[in-house]
Formats: sequence, structure tokens, C-alpha cells
Amino acid sequence: MKSLNNKVAVVTGAGSGIGRAIAIELAQHGCVLALSDINEIALQETKQLILDAKSNTTTHLQTLDVANKQAVFEYARNVNADLGCVDLIINNAGVALSSGVDETKREDFEWLMNINFWGVINGCEAFLPYLKQSQDAHIVNISSVFGMIAIPRQSCYNAAKFAVRGYTEALRQEMGMKYPHISVSCVHPGGIATDIARNARVSEGEDISELTASFDKLAQTTPQKAAKIIVAGIKKNKSRVMVGWDAHVIHALYRLLGIHYIGLTQWLAKRLNYQ
Ligand SMILES: NC(=O)c1ccc[n+]([C@@H]2O[C@H](COP(=O)([O-])OP(=O)(O)OC[C@H]3O[C@@H](n4cnc5c(N)ncnc54)[C@H](O)[C@@H]3O)[C@@H](O)[C@H]2O)c1
Repeated sequence: MKSLNNKVAVVTGAGSGIGRAIAIELAQHGCVLALSDINEIALQETKQLILDAKSNTTTHLQTLDVANKQAVFEYARNVNADLGCVDLIINNAGVALSSGVDETKREDFEWLMNINFWGVINGCEAFLPYLKQSQDAHIVNISSVFGMIAIPRQSCYNAAKFAVRGYTEALRQEMGMKYPHISVSCVHPGGIATDIARNARVSEGEDISELTASFDKLAQTTPQKAAKIIVAGIKKNKSRVMVGWDAHVIHALYRLLGIHYIGLTQWLAKRLNYQ
């Protein structure tokens, strides 16, 4: 997808952070946008920001829970009917959970998997029939650096993001064989300065303000910078998009150390008292 001008782009979780920044970036590239989020007010704010950026892009807005399979399929039908086609989908909506494996409530694990994993699958499956009809289509699934390496207290998030990577890499190969006009990218952001930690669930007794404070220290890349890198990755048809210098370092370590990265992350987690 070399040019994004007039392409119909769907972005989930567009009410905040990376999704919002991608929406603004795509508007500046001339995309027609279909934006959704579970948070209606946040979604309206994104629309206003697009208008403030003096982009007169058509913007289709809908409140949507990506975990609700039926609602996502209905949404895909509506977007296609209202905008005439779909060329690009960015499965971005996601949440975080900090919890040790022996204290995780199954309810919280399922909440996260339903959004971070099944939400991505719902988006891919629901929009695929319309993407097949496009001349030049692209699917972007947002994983994480934690879809490459695992760390303590992130087992649920790791499970979802590793699964998104596996699914997306298989999807890219299948599309390449069956529908070569559909490109697929898996995105692995490092720490991006968004509200993800503030909106996270934590285990009983864990202080969310401590988690947020450490996240704010570590998350150095702005969502705007992340959006530019992701959009550049789409235009270059990259299979894997690393976002932020920390993501590049983690990717390099992962390739260099193989499974032995585990010793390093365990040592770091102990030093940071994140256990
Ligand atoms: N911020 C980071 O450091 C980072 C790093 C790696 C990966 N990611 C991934 O990037 C994506 C975006 O995260 P972010 O950092 O912008 O977080 P964010 O909290 O700023 O934004 C996430 C958005 O998703 C929406 N959302 C939550 N549950 C939803 C649901 N069920 N249906 C629809 N929308 C829902 C929220 O309302 C919010 O607007 C997520 O998939 C996240 O896992 C973020």
C-alpha cells in the first residue's frame, strides 16, 4: 500500500494512545476513517482532534467492544455498507493486566484474552471478506515487544501478544499465497507513553500508582512517533514493525540470546522489585 490517499481505514481502540495517534496520522495521509472504541466520549475527542488538525476526512464513528464477536461482524457490515469498501484494518484495541500466575483471577485473564487476542481475531475474520474485494489491502495487528519476550507478572499479556504474533505471521503467509493483494503486518511497540497502565487491571493488593509511575518512566516513545513508524511500516509492507529504540534493543537481544533472555529479564525484574 504505497499511497494511503482515499483508502478506507478501520482503527479499533481509536479513543486513546496509539489508536488515536494512528487515526490522526491516517487522516493526514488522506484516508477515509472508520474509528471505533469502547469509550464513546474518548472517540468523540479523537474526532475533534482530527478536525483540529484541519483534516476534513470523512470519519465514521461507532462505539464497539472488540471482544463482542457478533458486534464486530455487524460493525464490519455497516462500515462496508456506509463507506463502500474497506482497504485497511488496524486491530489496535488492547488492555493490560499485572498479576502473578498464582494470584490471577480467571475472570481477569479472560477479560484480557477476549480483548487482546479474540478482539484481533474478530477484526481479521469480520473484515476479511471486504478486504478480499479491495484492489490493495492491508491488515495490521498490534502485538508488543512482550509478544517476543516474556516477563514476570505479564503472563496473560504475554500469552495474548505471543498468540497475536503467531496468528499474524501465519495470516501473512496465507494471504501471500491466496490473496497477494492483502498484506499483513505485525507491530511490536516498546514502551509508548499512553494511558494503558492507568487503565490496567492489577492483582489484589498491588498499587496501580506504582505500576503507572514505573511505566511512565520507561515508556519513552510518544504515540505520535509510534503512529508515524506504523504508517511507514504499512507503506513499506513490513512483516514485522518494531516501534521505539527499546523495541529494537529487545528484538536484537532476543535474536542474540535466544531463550537465554529469560535469565536477563528475571535478573532485571528482581532488581526492579517487579515480582
Ligand atoms: N503503550 C504501550 O507501551 C504499548 C506497548 C506495546 C503494545 N501496546 C499495544 O498497543 C495497543 C494500544 O494501546 P495503548 O497503549 O494505546 O493503550 P490506551 O489505553 O491508551 O488505548 C487503548 C484503547 O483501547 C480501548 N479499548 C479497551 N478495551 C476495548 C474493547 N473491549 N473494545 C474496544 N476498545 C477497547 C480503550 O478505550 C482505549 O481507547 C494495545 O493493543 C496495547 O496492548 C501498547
